[in-house]
Amino acid sequence: MTYPECIIEIDGLETRFGDHVIHQNVNLCIYRGEVLTLIGGSGSGKTTLLRQMLGLEQPYQGTVRIFGNARSDAHHSLERNNIRNRIGVLFQQGALFSALTVFDNVALPLRELHTLSERMIRELVMVKLEMVAIGPEHADKMPAALSGGMIKRVALARALALDPELLFLDEPTAGLDPELSESFVELTLELRKELNLTIVMVTHDLDTLVGLSDRIAILADQQVIAVGTLDDVCQFQHPFVASFFKSIRHKIEQKNQLEPSWKIGPMPS
Ligand SMILES: Nc1ncnc2c1ncn2[C@@H]1O[C@H](COP(=O)(O)OP(=O)(O)O)[C@@H](O)[C@H]1O
Ligand SMILES: [Mg+2]
Repeated sequence: MTYPECIIEIDGLETRFGDHVIHQNVNLCIYRGEVLTLIGGSGSGKTTLLRQMLGLEQPYQGTVRIFGNARSDAHHSLERNNIRNRIGVLFQQGALFSALTVFDNVALPLRELHTLSERMIRELVMVKLEMVAIGPEHADKMPAALSGGMIKRVALARALALDPELLFLDEPTAGLDPELSESFVELTLELRKELNLTIVMVTHDLDTLVGLSDRIAILADQQVIAVGTLDDVCQFQHPFVASFFKSIRHKIEQKNQLEPSWKIGPMPS
């Protein structure tokens, strides 16, 4: 039997801010190629856990291994850069730099490499924009001139600029209306297949959760209390799980009620 490769391995992680304990004995493995979604109450430490995986926070105890390296081992800036270039990030806040054009936002990670010519950068940026269905006519626009859905797509293009193997999405569809959320989910699914991505995502949105996740990890009481498929985790006995999936059940029922009647039979004229 072959075991799937752990691209990220979190072992006995404790995170503290001063006396405030955020995570205690968190254990989690993220398999290569999967979409793992992290859910938990507001302030439960989801974003901080992503930041631990990114090496932006220090473990108080325990280890976070990424691509087989403990983050604390990566003292060498070269090694750190090497890891960073294999990762794309779309954070909830500050998706784009407002003072830079669409083009310059996506070009930023490429320019930071200091190895590519401007001509090469131009080509790569246009390819990335095309990937997320942003036409070249938008390249010179400022972020303020874009719709919410377009901003998310440009931010995704920037996250994909360095052809990462691993993509982090923190609330990628927050603030988008359902239609735009759905097209973002479809786009992400396509890109995931095309680019062999592993994705770690945080979301509260049901359609995004159901549409994208292979597995779901639940963060509560400073720990990952359950991890598994949607069917697995909704059985888990915990107040957070009960209330989270209660609202989902409510939404599913609402959806079923809204099923158009023409599916059952023709409308009487
Ligand atoms: N840099 C920081 N310094 C102090 N406290 C922080 C810092 N970052 C996050 N926190 C605290 O850690 C807790 C978890 O935050 P966060 O990971 O952002 O939660 P979530 O993303 O689940 O809503 C919150 O109580 C937050 O105030
Ligand atoms: Mg957060």
